[in-house]
Amino acid sequence: MAEGIVERTLVLVKPDGVKRGVVGEILARFERKGLKIVAAKLVQVTPELAARHYAEHAEKPFYPGLVQHITSGPVFALALEGRSAIAVVRLMTGATNPQTAAPGTIRGDFGLAVTPNLIHASDAPATAERELALYFGPADFVAYARSGQEFT
Ligand code: RTP
Ligand code: MG
Repeated sequence: MAEGIVERTLVLVKPDGVKRGVVGEILARFERKGLKIVAAKLVQVTPELAARHYAEHAEKPFYPGLVQHITSGPVFALALEGRSAIAVVRLMTGATNPQTAAPGTIRGDFGLAVTPNLIHASDAPATAERELALYFGPADFVAYARSGQEFT
């Protein structure tokens, strides 16, 4: 019997990932894991959206650079669903600094720099709910059955 409640989480492939052309490789990892894509779109993040998304970091020294980066090109926004999806996606994402992120994680395998660190992933249920609503409306979510779901 599979364990863990079914959750939804927000992933952004950040502008560095889109520009480097690794959206497909990153998406493939989540698909292979058994997570279900329930919404997806390319978004040009505005300064206003960046400020809402990263409000918790507004006083941090890295905040201006973070907003500059996230608005520097399109992000690929992705809503993923699955058992314990929030924690699973964070594990697959790896530590914030790609230089110390474990090999096998997305940051550990694809990057070296901390601000352009390829991907954002929600870190808790309340965060996921808030962040999903920043990027997606109710009509963006599509219901369908993923084959192989009996194994996930
Ligand atoms: P994220 O929110 O993007 O999934 O990343 P995270 O939880 O691992 O890291 P967080 O502490 O929430 O920081 C958000 C993003 O800010 C940039 N950052 N730069 N220069 C720095 O020391 C620094 N620290 C954080 C990264 O782009 C990080 O993903
Ligand atoms: Mg974070």
